[in-house]
Amino acid sequence: MKKIRKAILPVAGLGTRFLPATKAIPKEMLPVVDRPLIQHVVDEAREAGIEHFIFVTGRNKAVIEDHFDRQYELEVTLTERRRFADLEHLERDLPVPGQTSFTRQQSPMGLGHAVWCARDIVGEEPFALLLPDVLVQAERGCLAQMIDAYQEIDQVANFVAVEEMAPERVHEYGVIGVGRQVGKAFEVTQMIEKPTPGRAPSNLTLTGRYILQPEIFQLLETQSWGAGGEIQLTDAMNRLALNQAFFAVKFEGRAFDCGSKTGFLVANVAYALAQPDIGPKLRQKLKEMLVD
Ligand code: G1P
Repeated sequence: MKKIRKAILPVAGLGTRFLPATKAIPKEMLPVVDRPLIQHVVDEAREAGIEHFIFVTGRNKAVIEDHFDRQYELEVTLTERRRFADLEHLERDLPVPGQTSFTRQQSPMGLGHAVWCARDIVGEEPFALLLPDVLVQAERGCLAQMIDAYQEIDQVANFVAVEEMAPERVHEYGVIGVGRQVGKAFEVTQMIEKPTPGRAPSNLTLTGRYILQPEIFQLLETQSWGAGGEIQLTDAMNRLALNQAFFAVKFEGRAFDCGSKTGFLVANVAYALAQPDIGPKLRQKLKEMLVD
């Protein structure tokens, strides 16, 4: 069975779209209901069987490392107060010692550069990449669905998750062209990062979940500047596609672009509505608000 053990989570972004909330707090720590965004994404990776989480961080991000560590004062206080359910919850979220690595990107040179920063920690094995700006609400996690499809295919291959996007928003994303269906996946015929209007090969956009082969690192090393003056992952993936297969998975579930205020707020509502303790009450409140 082909296994994916490691995942890269790039968390070095400045989060300027959420200022001033993100002046002293990383955007990845903003809560979606009662869990930081990054915790939701780590949960998705864990569900898919990931055993090592590699965070590519930057300045002002140390609190992410603290979040994935023990908080002794809190644990002692909760124990004294006999809040065992809360304690159990904290314990469940905590990675096993040695399961996390943190490395710094140092300067904001783009997603491709952030991924390249994790090369030594990943080594020579295929890995997952999850962009924490995107949350996917699904019965079976998006990455788990991709790994199912990956395991079905009997060749060295790379996978991307894609979703159908409204035509007026396609230019904000990486876009793929699709070929024939193979098992649960589709062959990728081309990938374009943020195409100018009229140049998009389809309305299928990259959702921010990838399974990549380690050869991507050598390509990133020599990658020239791309769209937006950044080292683009999509450009390196296009070069890798000359020698290796790329497949797309149209996952089941709903993606929220938490890099935008609207997407982030809608994610909060959707996740809260799905929680049995607060969902019904919130539904009622929203109904009242919307008729006013
Ligand atoms: C990145 C990727 C893009 C992808 C998007 C998903 O763009 O480069 O291909 O569609 O994430 O959110 P960014 O949002 O960093 O501009």
